[in-house]
Amino acid sequence: MSKNLVGAAVPRVDGARKLSGLAPYTSDNHLPNMAYGYGVFSTIASGKITGIDTGEASKMPGVIDIFHHKHFPKLYRTPSSFEEENKVDETRLPFEDDMVHYAGQFVALVVAETFEQARAAAYRVKVDYKAEDPIATMDQALKRSEKKPAPPETDHSRGEPDKRFESAARKIERVYTTPVETHNPMELHASVAHWENGRLVLFEASQGVIFARNVMSKVFGIAPSQVEVRAPFIGSGFGSKLWIWPHAVAAAAAAREVKRPVQLVVPRQEMFTTTGQRPATHQTLRIATGEQGKLQALTQDSINSTSTTDVYVESSGSCTKSLYDCPDLRVSHATVASNRGTPTSMRAPGAAPGLFALESAMDEMAIELGMDPLEFRKLNFTDRDQSLDLPFSSIHLLEAYEKGAEKFGWSERNPEIGSMRDGDEVIGWGVAACNWEALKRDCSARVSMRSDGTVFASCATQDIGTGTYTILAQVISDLTGVAIDKVDIELGSSAYPSGPVSGGSWATATTLPAIAKATKNAIDQLKVYATSSNAKFADQKPEDLKYEDGEVISGSGDRISFTELLKQQRLASADGEADTPAAEQDKFSFRSFGVHFVEVRWDEAISNLRVSRVVSAIDVGKIINSTTAANQVEGAVVMGIGMALYEATEYDHRTGLPVNNDYAEYLVPTHADQPDSVDVILLDHPDYDFNEYGARGIGEIGITGLAAAVANAVHHATGKRVRDLPIRLEKLM
Ligand code: MOS
Repeated sequence: MSKNLVGAAVPRVDGARKLSGLAPYTSDNHLPNMAYGYGVFSTIASGKITGIDTGEASKMPGVIDIFHHKHFPKLYRTPSSFEEENKVDETRLPFEDDMVHYAGQFVALVVAETFEQARAAAYRVKVDYKAEDPIATMDQALKRSEKKPAPPETDHSRGEPDKRFESAARKIERVYTTPVETHNPMELHASVAHWENGRLVLFEASQGVIFARNVMSKVFGIAPSQVEVRAPFIGSGFGSKLWIWPHAVAAAAAAREVKRPVQLVVPRQEMFTTTGQRPATHQTLRIATGEQGKLQALTQDSINSTSTTDVYVESSGSCTKSLYDCPDLRVSHATVASNRGTPTSMRAPGAAPGLFALESAMDEMAIELGMDPLEFRKLNFTDRDQSLDLPFSSIHLLEAYEKGAEKFGWSERNPEIGSMRDGDEVIGWGVAACNWEALKRDCSARVSMRSDGTVFASCATQDIGTGTYTILAQVISDLTGVAIDKVDIELGSSAYPSGPVSGGSWATATTLPAIAKATKNAIDQLKVYATSSNAKFADQKPEDLKYEDGEVISGSGDRISFTELLKQQRLASADGEADTPAAEQDKFSFRSFGVHFVEVRWDEAISNLRVSRVVSAIDVGKIINSTTAANQVEGAVVMGIGMALYEATEYDHRTGLPVNNDYAEYLVPTHADQPDSVDVILLDHPDYDFNEYGARGIGEIGITGLAAAVANAVHHATGKRVRDLPIRLEKLM
């Protein structure tokens, strides 16, 4: 019998389906009579459409219809509320009017018999524009756009940080900047929309089928029950697939108009324009300490780029407000508009750019004080969230510092710049803390224990590649004693009981309690069946029975397998449903913690910089699956190396067009760029104040702090302090 799977290194239950190509992704859906859409995208970043000529395009083979702002149904807006679960980041509907707010905005949509015909015709649609001078870069936005303060709930202030800073003995003030980054999931954004009798079925590459369903219901003015959104498999998203973007609305509207299913795939180039991006940030950090290095004042004033149509706030101070013991502190946020699509969450939104700044500044302050940067952090440790005035539910950051330092060999570090060498290479060692909030949303689930010995469970959450199918199967297998290969988990349909978006690192913490409770309710149902009038334990009460390893057991120790019981009763299944609530945030602050130690090697003669070694010690509560958990951190470290050394979406300052908009020119780490070793230490201390499994979630924390650890290591090797990401070689010469 399978037992104690929770915590084990269970291989992904969907691995074989994915590797063999049997796992269906959105664009794998080719429905009967389906038509294909291809977008026409604005080639200017700001201005107006003055004319659209579809004459030639509409005569091209296979063309069914061409939509644009003069030929498109009037739709409703979504209120865009996170609490009402209908949030979008880009609120403007496609083809709303003749205005152009960013390069790559949908200006027309060709629907044709085949993908190739639609694309060929799209290239022949002629659009005339009256172009304005765009606000294309962060520098231009800072100069030309009005700086708008963020809503007050994003900010935090305590004590008198400015006054304290002025009078402090030791202090630094620095500006850090991070560029626009683009999510580059392997799977392109895609929609397949199909209407039947006024009901919409939308296959969508989505991290949140419930949110997508609700948005579609609002936009088309139909009941949520008249929409089903499906996303059984997603080729990752990194945040870009959390909310609905214009292509999905365009595809669904077009399908309704042409009365055929429509498939619309967003081309890779337009993944850089019309499906969100991590905005650029400009962060001013001030740190003040006493002579011995105790923090006295800390301020982080951040500005990020947003679009001209929406306000998106990158909450760069979200970790700063509670990571260290500091009485006088302020984090503030503001936005400046630029001509690009609305930004969105990208893995560890706020925390990733925010901790690059904070953890670089902590390193600079430690050097200023002549202290070891790890000792400086230990000295300023706190087990209390001073921004909420609550204790952390569970914090093992000091243990993470110790275990990580030991594994890395930190005590061997010579603090003198450029002092550690290996042949032609100068070695640099850097450290930075990582941090992320722990959230748990409300969730529903349904579990059926079936007479054929299998278990079926469903929840309207998704597996974006992180292992959600697997951990839910582990939990059910543990509770029922049914082998994991006999547990069928169905995710990725809004028709299932309501579940969370796969984001915010909260899917695990949110779904486990609901799945576990639904399983226990199914087992209770079995006990009721076992005591019904003609059943084996008819003389007993359900509450006197036990369930163990697939068997219902009476008070006197008699046993019957659940399959036998169901067969005797001629029942297909015993079923359980459950709703579990969001975490209450009034007694504790729930956060996760960790630390990265990074080694870089700099070969000055050939200008070669590489990250050679990473040790990450992570405190995220109970680990449910040691393989998928370690994978999450390893993947985040790789993405963090990308953030540190390579990633930046570059916009032509004259046209506002993104110029490195493909896999060749938008640099991400390749296999050759990987460190020789990435050691992930998972501390595995259950946080039972958070949920019954003690698991807080692990998707995002791994990228936080990593870029700072690299920058700190680069400084240790080269003496060059790079405060604007990415750390390109020219900045070291
Ligand atoms: Mo994550 S940025 O919440 O997908």
